[in-house]
Amino acid sequence: MTSIPRRIGVLTGGGDCPGLNAVLRSVTKHAIQSGLDVHGIEDGFLGLIENRVRELRYDDVSGILKLGGTILGTSNKANPSRFATGQTEDGKVIWEDVTANCFDTIEEHGLEALVVLGGDGTMACAQPFAAAGIPVIGVPKTIDNDVHGTELTFGFQSAVEVATEALDRVHTTAESHGRALIVEVMGRNAGWIALHAGIAGGADVVLIPEIPFKLEHVLEQIEWRTSIGRRSTIICVAEGACMEGGEQVVHALDPTSPDPVKLGGIGEQIAHEIDARSEVEARAVTLGHVQRGGSPVADDRVLGTLFGAHATHLLLEGASNRMVAWRGGAVGDVDITVPGQGQRTVPIDDPHVLAARSCYTTFGDDVPRKLREEARGRGPRGLLR
Ligand code: F6P
Repeated sequence: MTSIPRRIGVLTGGGDCPGLNAVLRSVTKHAIQSGLDVHGIEDGFLGLIENRVRELRYDDVSGILKLGGTILGTSNKANPSRFATGQTEDGKVIWEDVTANCFDTIEEHGLEALVVLGGDGTMACAQPFAAAGIPVIGVPKTIDNDVHGTELTFGFQSAVEVATEALDRVHTTAESHGRALIVEVMGRNAGWIALHAGIAGGADVVLIPEIPFKLEHVLEQIEWRTSIGRRSTIICVAEGACMEGGEQVVHALDPTSPDPVKLGGIGEQIAHEIDARSEVEARAVTLGHVQRGGSPVADDRVLGTLFGAHATHLLLEGASNRMVAWRGGAVGDVDITVPGQGQRTVPIDDPHVLAARSCYTTFGDDVPRKLREEARGRGPRGLLR
């Protein structure tokens, strides 16, 4: 335990997501009421590197609860320990440790503690400051819901809502035309968005990175649905999903980013294969950043408010190096190094996976025929025609 800080800095790092402003509002209002000064650092750690810091008062955070994005701006490239400062003539990125600039900024503004809103990358970026004795409190965000130590990140439920609406919408057009409709969602190497939206949107096929799939099984599902008179097949695919023995589909590479691989394109590939190998016409939609934009859903506003209040509460208790977390249905906190374990992915026996399978959804790793045959034998009138 350290002493209670009087002046705190707050930043939002990594990719944005709905709910960041709800947390900023909650942290700031709670801190101001408790007699602390709050300073907002612009564009994540870039603002510390470039000395861009401004005071946050009540008026600055009033009315922002339902705003998407972040009023402070963010950057998913600014890791002070390994910061891209340029490129050599032959295109190699020049990396430098610019942590000293950040310490200068912290000193100039008299910041005695930091609240960092971000994912695993942001928590890792905060380590040198925690190690130097500056209390740091992390607040986990990301639409991907893949941060270790917390069962839920804010932003996730908003992204699932967008993806579910997209699935609902493609359902009707798929039915009209008798097509297979594929919706590709984000999530990096984790399938949480695809899994939850797939269940909520009634997808017949859910493809996630944790369960490699075979195209044959996807085609069999389409064939089976056609054979029982269903006009459409809805497929929800995570951008990180890949075929058994294959590789993830990369949309772009950004060598200046700590996360250089940008995934995307698997949905179009599957559509192409379905067109080529079946009688059914397929179309693909990639949702992309639509999932990250716009207002947070009510649950993310509530979670963000709870998280922000707890972050300030931890600082007022003199705590340091903790990350706020959602565990067992309540807000708590864990050591800030816990997210460093890597991405929290979907266990293949997760109850959501099992529940989806029990509703005839395939993950492309199996033919649901066995299940269907069993159901036919068991059902009072037979579940299938
Ligand atoms: O981590 C959030 C996320 O939206 C991922 O789902 C996606 O793979 C990535 O960020 C996209 O990054 P960028 O905004 O840099 O294109």
